[in-house]
Amino acid sequence: MSAPADRVATEFAEEFGGKPDGSWWAPGRVNLIGEHTDYNDGFVLPLALEYGVAAAARVAEEPVLRVRSVQQGETVELPLDAIAPGAVDGWSAYVAGVGWALREAGHDVPGLDVVVDGDVPAGAGLSSSAALECVVAVAWNDLAGTALSLDDLAGVARRAENDVVGAPTGGMDQMASLHGRAGNLVFLDMRSLEVEHVPFDPPSAGLALLVVDTHAPHAHVDGEYAERRRSCTRAAELLGVPALRDVPLDGLDEALGQLTGDDGELLQRRVRHIVTEDARVLEVVDMLRSGDDPRRIGPVLTASHASMRDDFEITVPEVDTAVAAALDAGAYGARMTGGGFGGCVLALVDTDAVDAVAGAIEAAYAAEGYRAPSAFVVTASDGARRL
Ligand code: GLA
Repeated sequence: MSAPADRVATEFAEEFGGKPDGSWWAPGRVNLIGEHTDYNDGFVLPLALEYGVAAAARVAEEPVLRVRSVQQGETVELPLDAIAPGAVDGWSAYVAGVGWALREAGHDVPGLDVVVDGDVPAGAGLSSSAALECVVAVAWNDLAGTALSLDDLAGVARRAENDVVGAPTGGMDQMASLHGRAGNLVFLDMRSLEVEHVPFDPPSAGLALLVVDTHAPHAHVDGEYAERRRSCTRAAELLGVPALRDVPLDGLDEALGQLTGDDGELLQRRVRHIVTEDARVLEVVDMLRSGDDPRRIGPVLTASHASMRDDFEITVPEVDTAVAAALDAGAYGARMTGGGFGGCVLALVDTDAVDAVAGAIEAAYAAEGYRAPSAFVVTASDGARRL
């Protein structure tokens, strides 16, 4: 059992007395490629992490949610009827929002006593929030006997985040946390919600997927994210397509030519990122499916980074520095991962070059006077489950 799973069981007895009805786990995720494509009905290719959130839960006698966060050292109590958009804030909104979304979907869920604890670095763009939503969703689903599918649970978790927390995110993170599979990427078509597990085992090719938490401060993240979303919606409207996913790569120049006016140049760059990023996801999936040497995906990862930096404008200097240093030190490819404006960088490196690449990034940070980053190797892990 992981450390968070041990801690929630112990803390449950202290907080609520007696034993929980069960324990559950949901992982964070890192996205190999496909950034900001999810809310454009496009393609993404995340993997579930070995880091995540554990929950110990028991059905309550009253229709009340009592949730304790070990990390926050705080317990919050809310009658289920009092949970609504705008009525809850802070960390407990991610948990309460799940109960609200289940009820909104017509499920008569009982009150819950629950303790949560996690080991996903918070604020690093590794979806600690989706892990929290998803672990509560699977626990409540099991205890209420609602028997929802993984896709439905992802929808519930996403509604919690969009409507109760108030973050206008796409649906990739929740799908990745629920559908993760050890040794596989989760290839998602975010329009049809079709899921394909694509085998990805860097160690068998002498490779490692190195993740570097840049610790770059996330200033204005929410506002910038919402602004990118609005630009994409506006561009799709101007182009007369349901979503930017519908602009084909071979029709890109023609589409860009239709975006004129004051914000035309800006919208052109946003559209170019989304359309080429969807194509890059498909290219990587094709390479991996056909059993190519995974090193060959490196340049595609790096091209994704350039597109996020120059066209979508969601990187920051710390992130660009980490990517450049990783490539200089011999990484096959490197890119920012996640929503942007800080967070993490990933790099595909030879196993025996992990320390050299991590060291090169650290040295580049020291030279720039940035706060030291943290680097760790990740492996594709299983999705949410009862322990
Ligand atoms: C955040 C959001 C996701 C997705 C990514 C960018 O992680 O939660 O829905 O949009 O940013 O790819």
